[in-house]
Amino acid sequence: MQELVLYSRNQLALRNGQDREEIWVAYKGLIYDMTQSRLWRNGKHYEHWAGQDLTEELSAAPHSEIVFEKFTPIGRLK
Ligand code: HEM
Repeated sequence: MQELVLYSRNQLALRNGQDREEIWVAYKGLIYDMTQSRLWRNGKHYEHWAGQDLTEELSAAPHSEIVFEKFTPIGRLK
């Protein structure tokens, strides 16, 4: 896999859709940029908040990880 920039949990937490423009979500160690997604507006996706690792939460979703397929990871979680 190509080299991805490493980001800390604190850096991820700032991209929760409230503190900065960017909206990022971590899933299985990779960070995805959801800023352009209508479904993640203001960092909120149903009862889930961006800016954190949501790997464990996916089991609560009505969809699989297939939803990440159209997004290219922008980084990796430290
Ligand atoms: C109560 C929990 C959740 C509900 C009701 C929900 C619902 C939905 C719905 C209806 C969509 C539209 C597309 C589709 O169904 O394929 C979607 C997309 C998506 N969901 Fe969820 N979801 C939930 C939890 C999560 C969690 C925990 C994550 C992250 C691990 C997540 C990540 C995504 C992503 C990345 C998309 C694609 C957004 C886009 O294409 O713009 N979802 N979700």
